Amino acid sequence: MDDSDDERLVSNETGNNEEASIEKSLRPATLDQYIGQDRVKHELSVYIQATKQREESLDHVLLYGPPGLGKTTLAMVIANEMAVHIRTTSGPAIEKPGDLVALLNELQPGDILFIDEIHRLPKIVEEMLYSAMEDFFVDIVVGQGPTAHPIHFPLPPFTLIGATTRAGLLSAPLRDRFGIVAHMSYYTIDDLTEIVKRSADIFNTKITDKGAHELARRSRGTPRIANRLLKRVRDFMEVSDKHAIDDEIVAKSLRFLRVDEEGLDEIDNKILKTMVEYYHGGPVGLGTIAANIGEESDTIAEMYEPYLMQIGYLNRTPRGRVVTEKGYEHLGLSAPQSD
Ligand code: ADE
Repeated sequence: MDDSDDERLVSNETGNNEEASIEKSLRPATLDQYIGQDRVKHELSVYIQATKQREESLDHVLLYGPPGLGKTTLAMVIANEMAVHIRTTSGPAIEKPGDLVALLNELQPGDILFIDEIHRLPKIVEEMLYSAMEDFFVDIVVGQGPTAHPIHFPLPPFTLIGATTRAGLLSAPLRDRFGIVAHMSYYTIDDLTEIVKRSADIFNTKITDKGAHELARRSRGTPRIANRLLKRVRDFMEVSDKHAIDDEIVAKSLRFLRVDEEGLDEIDNKILKTMVEYYHGGPVGLGTIAANIGEESDTIAEMYEPYLMQIGYLNRTPRGRVVTEKGYEHLGLSAPQSD
């Protein structure tokens, strides 16, 4: 990761330590405090209640959806509601089977293991998870050469919560082992407004209704972005002569941060402009777009495209990506007539 990533509004990571701790302080502790994702919340509350009544461990949960929507937060809320410990890690951090065994070995009955970016688990580790998830054991090989032998290692019943940006990135055998599959979608402006107000309250910062709404409207349906912007807008407010964040300060700060009227940042706009200026609006392949603007294909596919598609500026077709009429309008252009 280069240094500039820490400053990005749209990023897959919580950036630096300060931001990670701020994100922590903003985290809701219960499902009631968790704003939005009503369907997911309702479903989970039923399963949690039923599981607690039966005194069992919760079925394995797969959370999928774009980055920044609160998948880690939700996993922590589930642990809190179930009154169990949670151990968090990520796919790339578990390099070998021994790493997974070490994690599983620490679990007590009912505990949760949270694996973020679970689609990035090494294959050999993923395969070990199958028996762990299904029958609560792993077979590990100890020794080398002629003395190598398998050891059957029983595990306490535990809950695996996996998070991924797209369920399609997961292999079928792994996906099939999750009893609960929940899709997280972009937040509505109303839900984001509520999140912004709650965060401002935790920051001890005053914000007007219109200010919160404007910030929410321009946060790409993503709480992580809303909270990042809030932090920066608060700085602008504090050096102004105002005592509350209003829509005017929001507009002024976002202009400075190069977040446009629709909440799109420079990279979103660069993607659209490149496609229009060099490729007649598409169809154009993801790799070509990535090479043109100097970004990783994965970054575009996971962090930029989904929102551009959600707001109807971009379409994915079998022949590549195309800018829609609405996308052209956003750039102040009219779409070429199709023939
Ligand atoms: N902070 C970030 N996401 C949140 C959510 N969904 N509910 C409440 N606070 C949040």
